[in-house]
Amino acid sequence: MPRHGRVIAVANMKGGVGKTTTVVMLAEALAADGNRVLVIDLDAQASVSYCLAGNELLGKLIREGCTISSFLEDVFVDGSRRTLRQVIRNQVSTTTRGSHLLDISLVPADPSLRYVERHLMAALVKKGFDIDALSKRIWNRMEREMPPLRKEYDYIFFDCAPGISLMTEVAIRSADLVLVPTIPDPLSTLGLSAFCNTFWRGPLAKMTPLPLPQRIPYVLASRCQSIRAHKETLAVMQVDAGSNEPPYRLLKTGIPQLAILADVCKDRAGRTFQAKYGPVITTALNQLLGEMKDILDGHPS
Ligand SMILES: Nc1ncnc2c1ncn2[C@@H]1O[C@H](COP(=O)(O)OP(=O)(O)OP(=O)(O)O)[C@@H](O)[C@H]1O
Ligand SMILES: [Mg+2]
Repeated sequence: MPRHGRVIAVANMKGGVGKTTTVVMLAEALAADGNRVLVIDLDAQASVSYCLAGNELLGKLIREGCTISSFLEDVFVDGSRRTLRQVIRNQVSTTTRGSHLLDISLVPADPSLRYVERHLMAALVKKGFDIDALSKRIWNRMEREMPPLRKEYDYIFFDCAPGISLMTEVAIRSADLVLVPTIPDPLSTLGLSAFCNTFWRGPLAKMTPLPLPQRIPYVLASRCQSIRAHKETLAVMQVDAGSNEPPYRLLKTGIPQLAILADVCKDRAGRTFQAKYGPVITTALNQLLGEMKDILDGHPS
């Protein structure tokens, strides 16, 4: 039976806030619940690819040209008919639940992604296109690629790179939900407001031929500690999120700073989901998934 896959972009201009860790946790929790999950890596650091597939398989996929960079280059520079589906690698996870491997598929990234985006721009400028035309071409192509994938997967995640790239633009504007992991400290919230202005409101958000994002961004307080700075910043974020014209909403569930979570991305084959997350984080993840499903179903609490 065809599925009705939801697309979730995990993004923040700021680096090191927990975007990749969030994608790994949510992808694994959803897969442990029996969902088919696809993760698309949009970061040249390839962190989520490494976390999910491990070093050995990732190296093999890169050598075989099964990456987002290779897809983009083939399609937009060489004019090939390759599809995104052709660079998906199924069943990459080595994490188990019961006697089963988690059902997670991956479109990996590799360090050449940064170069490929620049190469793409240069190639199209040579053909007389401008940057808007290039983002529109990528958008149109992804609009064709995603519907069949939505029928195959229950959830599709984009792990966005820090900063802003062409692919991040497309991911944020096409996703059903944008999650913005944010460390609740004063500097991170400054970055958050710049990020919201870039994509959701203000003149910057409209300086592109692409549509505005489907809904307001949802901030996930990440790497939270029981310190005064975090408590005070969270209180300010709650006020912002509850204002008349909120720049973002704030998820009730926050993710604590914990050593067990710093370990989530270590390449260790054969770990069980339960051992990886433990009961406290599993409960928090279930609560977070409940919130996300309510938002996606149109009745956020
Ligand atoms: N809740 C947490 N508790 C402890 N460590 C964490 C937590 N979340 C993330 N980390 C650690 O913080 C670092 C940055 O996390 P992560 O790579 O997920 O952030 P990111 O936003 O994806 O970074 P980048 O912008 O570079 O892509 C990593 O070393 C990760 O293991
Ligand atoms: Mg990352």
